[in-house]
Amino acid sequence: MSPGKSDTFPLGARAARRLGYGAMQLAGPGVFGPPRDPDAAIAVLREALARGVNHIDTSDFYGPRVTNQLIRKALSPYPDDLIIVTKIGARRGPDASWLPAFSAQELTQAVHDNLRNLGVEVLEVVNLRSMFGIHGPAEGSIEAPLSVLADLQRQGLVRHIGLSNVTPAQIEEGRRICDIVCVQNHYNLANREDDALIDDLARAGIAYVPFFPLGGFTPLQSSTLSEVARGLGATPMQVALAWLLRRAPNILLIPGTSSLAHLRENLAVAELNLTEDAVTALDGVWARRGSA
Ligand SMILES: NC(=O)c1ccc[n+]([C@@H]2O[C@H](COP(=O)([O-])OP(=O)(O)OC[C@H]3O[C@@H](n4cnc5c(N)ncnc54)[C@H](OP(=O)(O)O)[C@@H]3O)[C@@H](O)[C@H]2O)c1
Repeated sequence: MSPGKSDTFPLGARAARRLGYGAMQLAGPGVFGPPRDPDAAIAVLREALARGVNHIDTSDFYGPRVTNQLIRKALSPYPDDLIIVTKIGARRGPDASWLPAFSAQELTQAVHDNLRNLGVEVLEVVNLRSMFGIHGPAEGSIEAPLSVLADLQRQGLVRHIGLSNVTPAQIEEGRRICDIVCVQNHYNLANREDDALIDDLARAGIAYVPFFPLGGFTPLQSSTLSEVARGLGATPMQVALAWLLRRAPNILLIPGTSSLAHLRENLAVAELNLTEDAVTALDGVWARRGSA
């Protein structure tokens, strides 16, 4: 991390290290069923903590249940400073499809399922994952489902609440219902629809957690990214993460990987400093796309 740049940002009551870990890749192919090698998945989770990660993103609908159960097996009893962030609002069909699960009964059940599968008495942070659009934010009131989650928080089952796959209007609506500590949306070097939102959230002290920081199922590919990486003696994925760290102080990273080598590579980004020229070139990836 560059001198003077904080390596943490508040996430609920705790300070999350800005380099965290997303557990989705630990489930089987298509985020469905168990991993081919459960011991390797457990080794990745333990290595993440050993290398200083204290923020893990998960959900009971990864697998389903698989990543939560792996996290419990690998890391429980959990260290005091570990922040496990889960999400509710979707369920998996028997064909591995992603379906909305927004009824009061489904949301309540999801909180209890997460508690049981993670093996905790309180969930530290729960994101309500909007399903008005499966692949991106779409308008629609979140008042009813968020009120259910706020009620579960009042019952002491949930400590902090975040939102995922949401529009600025939904975040405003949400903040009138309860305190929102984080927003998790699709964002990376080549997908910057949320630029203005990130800055607004930074001013409000709310963490922004980009999902698909490396492009997700379609890995980032850009000649600029490759050239900058070559110049810095880093990999393109490291440069993509370093650019996100540098983009705003409230960005918390949760790159996903099932590989120990990739995990180490991703966490080594703390030591990678981008030059001003590199940042200008990387900013141009989205600008060029926007003007194309
Ligand atoms: N809220 C939501 O709707 C939502 C949606 C999607 C994801 N998420 C969360 O966001 C997290 C991150 O997203 P993601 O895992 O889908 O996508 P991602 O972090 O953008 O990319 C993961 C992909 O990149 C590969 N990868 C990781 N590190 C690499 C490296 N150093 N070099 C080359 N390839 C590398 C991984 O493969 P290997 O396994 O081979 O390393 C995997 O295929 C998830 O784990 C999940 O917790 C949330």
